[in-house]
Amino acid sequence: MKILVFEKEEHLDAYVGEYICHFIRNHSQPVIGFATGSTPLGVYCYFIDNYQAQKVSFRQVKAFNLDEYVGLTPSHPRSFASAMKNELFSHIDILPENINALDGSKEDMIQECQRYESLIDANPIDIQILGIGMDGHIAYNEPGSPLDGACHVVDLHQESIESSLDYGFDHIEDVPTQGVTQGIGTIMKAKQLIMMAKGEKKADLVKRMIYGEVTSDFPSSIIQRHPNVIVCLDRSAASQLKEEDYEKR
Ligand code: GLP
Repeated sequence: MKILVFEKEEHLDAYVGEYICHFIRNHSQPVIGFATGSTPLGVYCYFIDNYQAQKVSFRQVKAFNLDEYVGLTPSHPRSFASAMKNELFSHIDILPENINALDGSKEDMIQECQRYESLIDANPIDIQILGIGMDGHIAYNEPGSPLDGACHVVDLHQESIESSLDYGFDHIEDVPTQGVTQGIGTIMKAKQLIMMAKGEKKADLVKRMIYGEVTSDFPSSIIQRHPNVIVCLDRSAASQLKEEDYEKR
């Protein structure tokens, strides 16, 4: 596992942004996994700026979103599909038919999960961007999720429901109580993971993710078992790590 700690947030965003742009320029059919949440937003701005400056094109990129709320249509303003569209996809030249996501409004969610898992198997993800939730979740794999799980529906934990207030919901009662997510097993099939974390509030979580036991009680700990991971942190998120374990940037 490579751990990089950046002095400035914009350097972290530019590093991850340029790493992925470089990959996209050098591959004919890149498959990128995108995460919602606030952490990757600076990377998405980097993509938009570079697209506008004609330094990168997303026409050949296939995109896979990580997770979604159950009960919201993709066009619902609070869906993760809408968030990805608003924050990134509507500002770049990605083709709409290349944007893939779980649809949390389907009547048969088991079938929807199988559809998505098969689609990912047919289009293996080259680089998956990840963030860490306040209870240690990745995507919407809450504590207790099987480490080899496929796409599935989950009951959201209270902490995740409360965190959703940061994503535009006005009242806690409006937040869906279930999510649908790539499983930990699905995520582990990606060829490379880029885990990002920023801020003091993530410091203890990052420590446990990197040094703690690999356990379904703390789903992000699974990244220790992935053969190709880059963890990109700002100084605050890295404050509980030993200096000898990371590279300073
Ligand atoms: C949500 C998403 C995750 C994301 C996490 C972290 O729970 N389902 O995919 O990684 O939030 O969010 P933030 O980056 O805002 O801390």
